[in-house]
Amino acid sequence: MPGSVVRVMVCGSDDDHGSSWFGPLLPTPGEAGSRPISTAETDDSQRFAERLITEAFTYDVVLLLVDGRTGIQPETRRFAAIASLAGIPQAIVAVLGADQAAFESIVREFSALAPKLAFQRITPIPLGLSEDGVAGEVAWYAGPSLREVLLAADNARPRLEKTAEPAAADGIDARVVWTHETPLFRGRAYLLILGGRTVTATVIDIATRLDPETLDDVSVRELAQGDIGQVSLSLTHPLECHTYAENPEHGGVLLVDRLTREAVGAGFVTAIRARNADIVWHRLDVDKAARSLLKDQKPAVLWFTGLSGAGKSTIANLVEKRLHALGHHTMILDGDNVRHGLNRDLGFSEADRVENIRRIAEVSRLFVEAGLIVLVSFISPYRAERMLARDRVGEGEFLEIFVDTPIGECRRRDPKGLYEKADSGLIRNFTGVDAPYEEPDDPEIQLRTLEGSAEALADEVVAALRARGNIA
Ligand code: ADX
Repeated sequence: MPGSVVRVMVCGSDDDHGSSWFGPLLPTPGEAGSRPISTAETDDSQRFAERLITEAFTYDVVLLLVDGRTGIQPETRRFAAIASLAGIPQAIVAVLGADQAAFESIVREFSALAPKLAFQRITPIPLGLSEDGVAGEVAWYAGPSLREVLLAADNARPRLEKTAEPAAADGIDARVVWTHETPLFRGRAYLLILGGRTVTATVIDIATRLDPETLDDVSVRELAQGDIGQVSLSLTHPLECHTYAENPEHGGVLLVDRLTREAVGAGFVTAIRARNADIVWHRLDVDKAARSLLKDQKPAVLWFTGLSGAGKSTIANLVEKRLHALGHHTMILDGDNVRHGLNRDLGFSEADRVENIRRIAEVSRLFVEAGLIVLVSFISPYRAERMLARDRVGEGEFLEIFVDTPIGECRRRDPKGLYEKADSGLIRNFTGVDAPYEEPDDPEIQLRTLEGSAEALADEVVAALRARGNIA
């Protein structure tokens, strides 16, 4: 569309000269055949992705700055991958201060990546740089100048048919640029923001990440900071959306930590799923209310969390004995036992613990549906997963019980000799030693085991159930 503005995103930093260096190469307003050129710039690929999502429009040209002395860097490849995902149609590889041989070698290197990128056009241009930091053209180069290429740029048009309605998705696939230092794990839930709406999204699969050297997809189980990966998310509420390629306004998502409210990732929607259309929730005549009425109790999850050796299992066991003696229907789930069966495939990495707790949250939900009082005794060190477990059951059905024992006391008790093994390096990722424990902020019940016997604390839990009307 000659005459219309060309929107250029300049990617990469030229620390020595700032961004004004290429000013002299741009067409001047009023010059014959001229079009207005608007430039924006970024020197951080993670912020670049966030910015594209929040701005929700596409640039016409991405200008990838390459220092001729150092060549194509991993960050250059990430910029290219993100610009390609964002549907920017044209890339200019601007190589600064290279001689002809160096330029040609950089062009060959970039050409090898081209098939993995979706640009319609890639134009390499060598640029010289004077002593005082002003860019200029180079004598040995006979191809089109930066000015000519920019003036001839096509405008990126939304590829969306005007009539296309957004689809209601309860699952999406997205290319996510992960920006947080804590990796993205399968099973963890985040807030997902799309076009001003917010829902909770759970990561149901992490398929691949881009190898920053080759831009090939490699399979992985988690995404680290700076990784660009393909993930599937399941949404708590359906959301009207498009794929990003169709419509950047309804196809870009931001992921936000549910507790800290920090942005942790930016995603380009690649596919939309309405998965539950095929798996319809079957309404059954005998429901939770009917089941619990027969048992004369209100179901609940008693979620005991705390360090290893804090006394979770001991107290949970006593509470269950008391409830049983009172004629109540209970079920107990204990980390050490469930890890022999359902969760025998999981270890103690952060990703495995997230999955451990996600499964237990789902199982406790089923037991609550059965009308039972469920006692869960897992370290469950992360607030995010305890929050997920709380969300899986109804309002008031979840009691977080913090079994609060100082680590010094847990070490002194060390019933299984595990702290000693952890200290001597025989076991790794041990909670409280070389893996974190995030204390509950506001638990329904806090049991200070230094201040009361296990029996007295168990009585306290039973009294709380009575006060809440779970048992008579
Ligand atoms: S959780 O962190 O994923 O919630 P879970 O409660 O299932 O842990 O399992 C904890 C139990 O596993 C501990 O009580 C201890 O007996 C055993 N264990 C073995 N290795 C570790 C470890 N590295 N960290 C914590 N507990 C461990």
